[in-house]
Amino acid sequence: MTELGDVAWPPAPIRTERLVLRESEARDRAAFIELFTSPEVGTYIGGPRPRDECERALPETPERRPGLFVIELDGAMIGTIELNRRDAERRSHVRPDAGEAELGYLFLPEAWGGGYAAEACAAALGWFADMLPGEPVVLCTQTANDRSMRLAAKLGFTEVQRFEEWGAEQWMGVWSPISPSG
Ligand SMILES: CC(C)(COP(=O)(O)OP(=O)(O)OC[C@H]1O[C@@H](n2cnc3c(N)ncnc32)[C@H](O)[C@@H]1OP(=O)(O)O)[C@@H](O)C(=O)NCCC(=O)NCCS
Repeated sequence: MTELGDVAWPPAPIRTERLVLRESEARDRAAFIELFTSPEVGTYIGGPRPRDECERALPETPERRPGLFVIELDGAMIGTIELNRRDAERRSHVRPDAGEAELGYLFLPEAWGGGYAAEACAAALGWFADMLPGEPVVLCTQTANDRSMRLAAKLGFTEVQRFEEWGAEQWMGVWSPISPSG
């Protein structure tokens, strides 16, 4: 994936009712390792990464790049949300020139079921709509990933198409910001 492009980064931390969305910091490293090595988190996204490989490969401050938000609850990281550009070589696009903005989310299992992902994604989409007004966002997830499918629907993504990739059925949805008139 490539970076978002013309956005001011990092923004000031974004606060929601219960969460803070902010840039990654060195103190998040242990939570990143948990996230990347968790079998539950990896179930529908290619499996967990080996812990020793993660320990070796992750820089002191992991995943610091435009569009990558760490989600913090009560002072600790519970997950990440990323908005970036969909690679042109990936299957399925909604723009003829490809390069759509794409939303991705990874939360630690102990934070599932509390509505945190929905709260954080809504805030990240709001930030995106302010940065790049009128631009749609796509999202791809395995149809077997029930939690992710429910989250996508709750956020207002609507189905564009289903397709096979990596040996599983994938769902692509699109979200469009509501225009001031609509
Ligand atoms: C996908 C993922 C982020 C969804 O997390 P989640 O916690 O289920 O999502 P939400 O934030 O929407 O929370 C929804 C649940 O919180 C419950 N909830 C509890 N309190 C709530 C509150 N105050 N507000 C809203 N919902 C609340 C909802 O009822 C809902 O429960 P249900 O799923 O049993 O119906 C998470 O499963 C994950 O990180 N998976 C691994 C990574 C992954 O597969 N990512 C997708 C890659 S494409």
